[in-house]
Amino acid sequence: MADDAVPREDEPLAGWLDRIERDARLTESARWRERDEVLDQLDGWRTAVDASGDRTLPQRFDVLEARLQAVDHALHGAVRESIRRGSGRDALLGLVRAGTTPGVGQAPSSDRYDALDALIGGVLDLAPGEKGLQPLGKDMVFYQPTPARHIFDSLEQLRLGSDDVLIDLGAGLGHMPLLAAICTPARCIGIEWQAVYVVAARARAADLGLDRAAFVQGDLCEADLGGGTVFYLYTPVSGALLRRVLDRLRGEAERRPIRLCTLGPCTEVVAGEAWLRAEGPCDRHRPVVFRSR
Ligand SMILES: C[S@@+](CC[C@H](N)C(=O)[O-])C[C@H]1O[C@@H](n2cnc3c(N)ncnc32)[C@H](O)[C@@H]1O
Repeated sequence: MADDAVPREDEPLAGWLDRIERDARLTESARWRERDEVLDQLDGWRTAVDASGDRTLPQRFDVLEARLQAVDHALHGAVRESIRRGSGRDALLGLVRAGTTPGVGQAPSSDRYDALDALIGGVLDLAPGEKGLQPLGKDMVFYQPTPARHIFDSLEQLRLGSDDVLIDLGAGLGHMPLLAAICTPARCIGIEWQAVYVVAARARAADLGLDRAAFVQGDLCEADLGGGTVFYLYTPVSGALLRRVLDRLRGEAERRPIRLCTLGPCTEVVAGEAWLRAEGPCDRHRPVVFRSR
């Protein structure tokens, strides 16, 4: 199925469409990666098909697209129900494993998004829009969610326990704390500058019954970091602001052992901190876990 989702070499578009329309496997819920690939193909061909003058192709595109989106929609709703019942971890991880067909829709580079982001985006359904956003100050990094595969990779590396308190520094819409609260027994907190993101994350946590996930509006240079055992940084700040946040974290590490999990350009800076040691290779394209000395 994996290779079938994309047109074969020299296959005419109509032939590919015939094949995809007949393929009942695409409506199996676990085939979310293949559906994402087909939806991408439809999207990519859309302009050419609409401009082609052909009367039936655009209609067939619409029908197929609606059919596949309906399967995804039902799947996202079913996963949300499992989370509310307390079995979200198994539902989500089962799906993630079932959908890891090599080569289909998997983004190679560190900040690209792939089919897993579409799945998680559909389940968490977090989209507050741009209205009400506050201007960012110097060295504050704009919102970009961690690609979902890196969140699962981080959780795998961190192995959070029930005594852990994960704090996402600059949590955005809260993907990391929400998924960590679903998949681990830890308490999870997101600190975020943008109030609209905090409101959206809180609403989703309440809707999913995630009482171990909390969201605080605040500035990383002032917010309470006490109690955190693991701090997640998807490069929320840079330059002098990153320096101030790292100094605050070093202060926390003087009171108790802590871990940092970093992704993106901040990893290089964090790797230079003498009070931390990396638990693995410092790869800028993967989450890296550091432990205080
Ligand atoms: C690159 S995004 C990371 C989002 C989230 N951690 C994730 O991985 O999905 C950086 C986030 O940090 C927030 N941010 C930047 N400076 C901040 C500050 N001084 N205090 C709190 N949040 C800040 C931004 O609003 C943005 O949502």
